[in-house]
Amino acid sequence: MDANGHVQPYIINKNMGKPMADFAPELPKKNADGVPIVEPTDEQKYMFDADGWLLIPNVLSEGEVEEMREWVKRLHFDPESLPDHERTILAGPTQRLIDHPVVMGMLNEFTANPALSSQECYGFSLGTCGYWYRTAPNRRTEGLKEARAFKPHNGNGLYRLPGDVHFYNSFPGKSFCPHMRVVWELNPVKYKQGGTLLVSGSHKAVYTAPDEIQDPDSDVWTTYECEPGSLLFFAEATTHSAHPWTNEENDRIAVPTLYNQVDGGFAEALKPDEKLLESMPPLRRTLFRDRYVANNVVGADFKRLWRV
Ligand SMILES: [Fe+2]
Repeated sequence: MDANGHVQPYIINKNMGKPMADFAPELPKKNADGVPIVEPTDEQKYMFDADGWLLIPNVLSEGEVEEMREWVKRLHFDPESLPDHERTILAGPTQRLIDHPVVMGMLNEFTANPALSSQECYGFSLGTCGYWYRTAPNRRTEGLKEARAFKPHNGNGLYRLPGDVHFYNSFPGKSFCPHMRVVWELNPVKYKQGGTLLVSGSHKAVYTAPDEIQDPDSDVWTTYECEPGSLLFFAEATTHSAHPWTNEENDRIAVPTLYNQVDGGFAEALKPDEKLLESMPPLRRTLFRDRYVANNVVGADFKRLWRV
């Protein structure tokens, strides 16, 4: 039972079926800037697990959104104004997004390996991060990218076999999402005008998707609308698709990231420019460590939770 009176889920490792020791104290309580990590509410955990996705509205303040949007615009339209190693979301104000307390709270719950977590070390790693700048067709001028095409993929994550990382494990009281997509929306998203399309619950589906899935207007699909500074989580195991951006009032400016297991995962380990990496606080740097288990935790013994 943890401090909040929640019963710990029964998780085993190398000790022949015995439950792991209490792992709640192993998960970082503060992010790299010393800001307390925000644990998801019971409702947020339940809805993410039930639907395979979750939108948390208005996480960033107006000032943060403004500063980050300007940074993305500069990266997109005027990258030459920045030194080479800073032409990335990993530099500037958007660097703070990668271990934002709300994101770290969700990842502690759904993606962390507690044996490879400590107060000095995140229990997962950052696989990819970038930005999307999308413009409606009639507002497009030279230099602006095409809108992304509709292209559904994944789903059926519950019973995938080893070797396929697009799985999603669920046990009574605990789910594990090894391939977590996190998208920061920095501009308004209007309903069905370009936000990511999702099929709620499809990460646990066991039937093959119906033909209707090829129609973006089918009721099979769901999506969201939100204000700037909102945060979307979805399991890559959930069926999803990009949707062409048709919102003529504003462009899409978003920061998409992918987090993977620190002991495995889909994307190769992300290795930022050395100069940039050295400028980051030590805890943030642990998001970029290599992917393996033995001794891959800072400040603790990796076997401590499963000693017989
Ligand atoms: Fe995808």
